[in-house]
Amino acid sequence: MKIVVIQGPNLNMLGIREQNIYGPMKLEDIHAQMKGFADQNKIDIEFFQSNLEGEIVDRIQECIGDADGIIINPAAYTHTSIAIRDALSAVQLPAIEVHLSNIHQREEFRHLSLTAPVCAGQILGMGPFGYHLAMVGMTQILNEVNAMKQAKQAQNQTQGQAKK
Ligand code: DQA
Repeated sequence: MKIVVIQGPNLNMLGIREQNIYGPMKLEDIHAQMKGFADQNKIDIEFFQSNLEGEIVDRIQECIGDADGIIINPAAYTHTSIAIRDALSAVQLPAIEVHLSNIHQREEFRHLSLTAPVCAGQILGMGPFGYHLAMVGMTQILNEVNAMKQAKQAQNQTQGQAKK
């Protein structure tokens, strides 16, 4: 099982930028906690942060055949990027969108997420803990996907045997 974590613009500034909104925790500390959970649960995990929309689109596309699920905080691109939405939709992998802050309590332009409709779920307003919740949620989704695949395989086998 492999999860790719994609972080959008200015999230490399966590711990410095607007601590009243995003808190004091740095991005590498959030990632260290996620890695701890991944290791405990035997999940491969990779982290990617970019301030550039095209690089985020490229990284999402690279997930095809490489990752089972995506955890993404598109940051400001959440509210503007049709390109990131299209990339998430194209790869057809389960994705969970995370926001540290509650975007609905903030300026009106943050209320709309262009990316949420193509994600399996959205977690917001929980600070860094939201990333942990996303890991738990993604593990659950991937376990369900695997169970469905196994059930289908078993069904195909019995159908194949019945034809013989
Ligand atoms: C954010 C919310 C966005 O509106 C903002 O542009 C960010 C961070 C969050 O995690 O709360 O950069 O995605």
